[in-house]
Amino acid sequence: MDYLEIVGGNTLSGEVTISGAKNAALPIIAATILSDKPVTLTNLPNVVDICTLLKLLSMLGADVAHDKTVAAINNGSINSTKAVYEIVSKMRASILVLGPLLTRFGECEVSLPGGCAIGQRPIDLHLKALESMGATIEIKGGYVRAEAKDGLKGAKIVFDKITVGGTENIVMAAALAHGTTTILNAAKEPEVVQLCEMIADAGVKIEGIGSSELTIEGTCGKALEFKTVEIIPDRIEAGTYLCAGAITHSSITLNKVNHGHIRASIDKLESMGCTFELFDDSITIHPSPKLNAVNLITIEYPGFPTDMQAQFMALAILAKGESLIEERLFENRFMHVSELNRLGADIWLKGSTAAIKGVDTLYGAEVMATDLRASSALVLAGLVAQGTTKVGRIYHLDRGYDDLEGKLSKLGANITRKKEA
Ligand code: EPZ
Repeated sequence: MDYLEIVGGNTLSGEVTISGAKNAALPIIAATILSDKPVTLTNLPNVVDICTLLKLLSMLGADVAHDKTVAAINNGSINSTKAVYEIVSKMRASILVLGPLLTRFGECEVSLPGGCAIGQRPIDLHLKALESMGATIEIKGGYVRAEAKDGLKGAKIVFDKITVGGTENIVMAAALAHGTTTILNAAKEPEVVQLCEMIADAGVKIEGIGSSELTIEGTCGKALEFKTVEIIPDRIEAGTYLCAGAITHSSITLNKVNHGHIRASIDKLESMGCTFELFDDSITIHPSPKLNAVNLITIEYPGFPTDMQAQFMALAILAKGESLIEERLFENRFMHVSELNRLGADIWLKGSTAAIKGVDTLYGAEVMATDLRASSALVLAGLVAQGTTKVGRIYHLDRGYDDLEGKLSKLGANITRKKEA
């Protein structure tokens, strides 16, 4: 297994280019199932999760040509609607093929996603919404078997909780449904917006894009034809590099960024003492000599993102005073705490809130990645810990960060990928 070896203490400088957003690319890849014609996706991030979902499409019979950041997909040749456990267990987001397969083919079997480190992450809201669109859903042998022989019907969906994946699945299902679907309490993340825009660009009438109320006029089973889609920049990768600048007290510039998508992270970094220069699609962070403590609560977009929680916890460890971080979206997203404490942090958990007492120094140690964003928090802490930090199980990191160690090395970090002997 690979691990990252980081020698702390370097300041960073220069520029880094942000890759396409994994969480935009995944639903967009799933949405290509709504078409029986070729479509090209560009600015894909070169990460494992993208390869996994493209492999799933190939296993269904799609014709897929993938070269790092570009994929040419033709789902005209799909000859199976069974998404097998072998793939779905590797990545929960595979559940995003459920809506498109069902609405295009009238039936499908999708393995229930495996458990996940950060929480139970059920899909009950996805299934309840599809049933209200006329699907019959049966869960048997670890698979969701869904059927809608006469196609899905437009319906009024009210999500009890805001769900990104649930919103995405239903938008895709509604695109080919018979009649109008409204979704109340829809997710508004930029990744949901780009998915809606892609489907609207293919001729589907969608109102309320970017709001919590979406109305979709289905095509009554007529497959779509998509234009080429360029994936939006990854707002979580961008936030992670801003944190790298802040924690190492370095001025660095991020290129290919959408400032509007990272307002919550910028706002919190400003409260910690950092300042920023914004240009068209780039941003320069100027650090504070000593970071102020921060209080944050994770909440749906445009609030502070749960996917930035671990990274800000790494910043808070060395801040002046005590910080409080409340995680409201996932029930188990503090697994990085014990690993950060191994580096000398002083973090206490009380239910869904972490109290972080600022310390002056971190000391390098062997730590273990537990999930995607926790991994990046450990790397951030390693950049400033005295001595050498070894981050193990970085297959978590490879799922969602495009060449993290290469990009950090170019910025001046002392970080190398090594193989266990
Ligand atoms: C998406 O996951 C992201 N993944 C996650 O990013 C992100 O953390 C999450 O949204 C929240 O922003 C992708 O986009 C591929 P949800 P998703 O459905 O869609 C509960 C990363 O690091 N819920 O919005 O699975 C759920 O348990 C990943 O890139 C139900 O109860 O998240 C959670 O508590 C991690 N029933 C909350 O809603 C359901 O049917 C939000 O989940 C669905 C969700």
